[in-house]
Amino acid sequence: MLFPVTYRVNAAGHMEVGGCDLVELAHTHGTPLYIYDEATIRQRASEYIAAMGSAGQVLYSAKAFASPRFLRVVAQEGLGLDVVSAGELHLALKSGYAGDRIHFLGNNKSREDLEAAHAAGATIVIDGSYEFELLREIVPEGKRIRVMLRISPGVKPDTHAHISTGQLDSKFGFSIESGAAMQAIAEALRHPRLELVGLHSHLGSQILALGAYQQAMEIMLDLLVELRDELKFEPRKLGAGGGLGIAYTREDDPPTPRDFVEIVRHALDTGCARRGLRVPELVVEPGRSIAGPAGMALYTVGSIKDIRGVRRYVAVDGGMGDNIRPKLYGARYEAFLASDPERRPDGKVTIAGKYCESTDILITDIEMPELKAGDVIAMPAAGAYNLAMASNYNGMPRPEVVMLSDGRADVMRRRETLDDLIAAEVF
Ligand SMILES: Cc1ncc(COP(=O)(O)O)c(C=O)c1O
Repeated sequence: MLFPVTYRVNAAGHMEVGGCDLVELAHTHGTPLYIYDEATIRQRASEYIAAMGSAGQVLYSAKAFASPRFLRVVAQEGLGLDVVSAGELHLALKSGYAGDRIHFLGNNKSREDLEAAHAAGATIVIDGSYEFELLREIVPEGKRIRVMLRISPGVKPDTHAHISTGQLDSKFGFSIESGAAMQAIAEALRHPRLELVGLHSHLGSQILALGAYQQAMEIMLDLLVELRDELKFEPRKLGAGGGLGIAYTREDDPPTPRDFVEIVRHALDTGCARRGLRVPELVVEPGRSIAGPAGMALYTVGSIKDIRGVRRYVAVDGGMGDNIRPKLYGARYEAFLASDPERRPDGKVTIAGKYCESTDILITDIEMPELKAGDVIAMPAAGAYNLAMASNYNGMPRPEVVMLSDGRADVMRRRETLDDLIAAEVF
């Protein structure tokens, strides 16, 4: 699924999403413009919920993309939330999320992060021994707060090294292999202010081969046997993380949310049965696989530079400031001429951004129809980790974001102004 579920080519021959013509949207709202298809968000979220059934909980990982309107849609579909900072928590609470539906993660939570999480009634997922000390000071005497521990199962998924987190050499989690996990669990159980409700793991992101989840589940369940036998502890919750990959190009054929949940549930159920363990409540926390396919980026073509026999650069009005992924981890994308997506290709071009870095290239060598200044280009699968990592590099305002549904385009984040860029400066 490269396009949002409502995507079609309309009677004018233009690309259309959520009943809205993308060329018209680009003209009325300006570009770069990010669009989200509400139907796709709901479809992906509800597929997770349906596949999970009563086996556990689905949290949306706010780091992929978060904006109040978006979070309300996710909440309406029945998902909890995973946040990693006081900032994400603040946005979630302001958007109407109940604190007790939120898990607070992060490998170096500050005192302020933990105080905010505690005040909101969120479940804290402890990721380092330092947090034990901080929580001893933050939680009042006589009170216990619900926590989980992030465990590193030592599995290296088949994804880019920069987005792989579950292996031994990682800044995240207490490693099983090194013995740190066992020690941390024992410490959490002894801790006077903590109620240890579960264990969490997360392997990485953009994972397309689901075998890594089965492998990690086996390792986590072996740990559960040790915990039961040695510490008389059986966690109520077991987190398998997020990380399901999506299609960025026509060649990608990722598993569906249902495939992902079914594989993890099956590994959990059969693994527990084989070991005589009580089946804990499963927690999964997808981000990219909900926000990613729902979002698209729209750009307008400006300068075109031909270097005969070498390359044709087509520059657009966005780039690494709204989408750092191609440069951060070699992410690949497709692009389409919004006014005629099915027009025959005319040759290879390289789509460059407008930032002052030679590396500011969105797509290298893609077959496109002939392009001219003013053409609108649409990039699918742009909903996750694009705007979430956006910057104001080069003094560029961040793009407007609209939610599309039934022919309506509602602005959910306005385009930044030049004054927004200097709002925090002291003159
Ligand atoms: C702990 C944790 N959970 C969930 C996610 C969401 O992953 P994804 O967006 O790939 O589903 C991440 C992303 O890196 C993460 O670090």
